[in-house]
Amino acid sequence: MTSNLSLRNRRDFLRASAVTLATGAFPSSLFSATEIFATNSSSTPSKPLRIILDTDPGVDDAIAIFLALRSPELHVEAVTPVCGNVPLSLTLPNALRLVEIAGRTDIPVAAGAAAPLVRRLVTAKYAHGNNGLGGVDFPEAKLKPVSETATELIRRIVRANPREISIVAIGPLTNVATVLKSDPTIAPLIKSIVIMGGSLSGGNITPAAEFNFYVDPEAARIVFDSGIPLTMVGLDVTRKVIIREEQVRALEAAQNPVSQAAGKILRANLDRLTKAGSANGFAMHDPLTVAQLIDPSVVTLKEYFVEIETTGELTAGQSLGYSHGPVRRSPPLETGLPPVEYLESDFKPNALVAVDVDPDKFFRLLLARLTASA
Ligand code: BDR
Ligand code: CA
Repeated sequence: MTSNLSLRNRRDFLRASAVTLATGAFPSSLFSATEIFATNSSSTPSKPLRIILDTDPGVDDAIAIFLALRSPELHVEAVTPVCGNVPLSLTLPNALRLVEIAGRTDIPVAAGAAAPLVRRLVTAKYAHGNNGLGGVDFPEAKLKPVSETATELIRRIVRANPREISIVAIGPLTNVATVLKSDPTIAPLIKSIVIMGGSLSGGNITPAAEFNFYVDPEAARIVFDSGIPLTMVGLDVTRKVIIREEQVRALEAAQNPVSQAAGKILRANLDRLTKAGSANGFAMHDPLTVAQLIDPSVVTLKEYFVEIETTGELTAGQSLGYSHGPVRRSPPLETGLPPVEYLESDFKPNALVAVDVDPDKFFRLLLARLTASA
């Protein structure tokens, strides 16, 4: 599973992206070629980070997939669609289309879960359009999914490469939880899980819950209880990276298949939301999650102990973060039944949570990568 682009070619397109910036394809006040060269040279590790991208495309997923596939710091081993923003019957063909548009048909795409672990699927068509790509109809991909399921493929790749593979999960955590449930000894072999999801400052689909955790709270809980090193990039930071007209124009102006496709998806979604009177921009949740792997200085991470609410009638999917101990549970109920043990324990962080972001740095990186001539 090697990439089509050699490292040298990838460095070339990073160079090209800086040249594009310098020649003024985007508004010059937003960018500086020097800064982009500095960002790229300081953040390009000698060995790319090997990732599996678990996703529910999804407008911002589409942009995140493109960003990952055009960044030499990352080696994408597989793409594993899951239901979420739209049903799997759409996220799977969307993922195939996006991988094909990026010219990366060497990457296996495997079908994931069609439903959350125990709940009925709730989608976010209101945010992503009926087809998940803002309503843009791309031709059907020639690329087909591999015959393994997403969980089979993830297990096989992880087991063949112990402690080498990170899972970047930018949809509901159903596929990841299914891997952990179906293979109880696999957790120590997964290098890390980098998650777009959750929030320590209120939700976006209910006052309590962020969408990905809301869709499958039980899956999120399994992942946060797994002991695997976790990074959570939640609404606390992703709400601060809002894509607007000027960035969409920059993507439309660049002449490569990825930036053209990204421009179409974003333009359609922006128009749709503007017409509905609901927004003149929207958050790049998933691209930020990928970007901070490429350039860690884009966000600030802080240790937390994060737990996921699963039983709340109104709050399922809420993420609660302790920054220090003691960690407490709600008091036991006086039901007359034998008392539930009241737990209080010391602080042991289970996740790095993104608490701050540099939006300008993020957008410079995103646009440089997507607009570079491949
Ligand atoms: C998350 O939910 C989805 O709608 C987005 O793709 C993102 O992964 C944000 O809450
Ligand atoms: Ca997503």
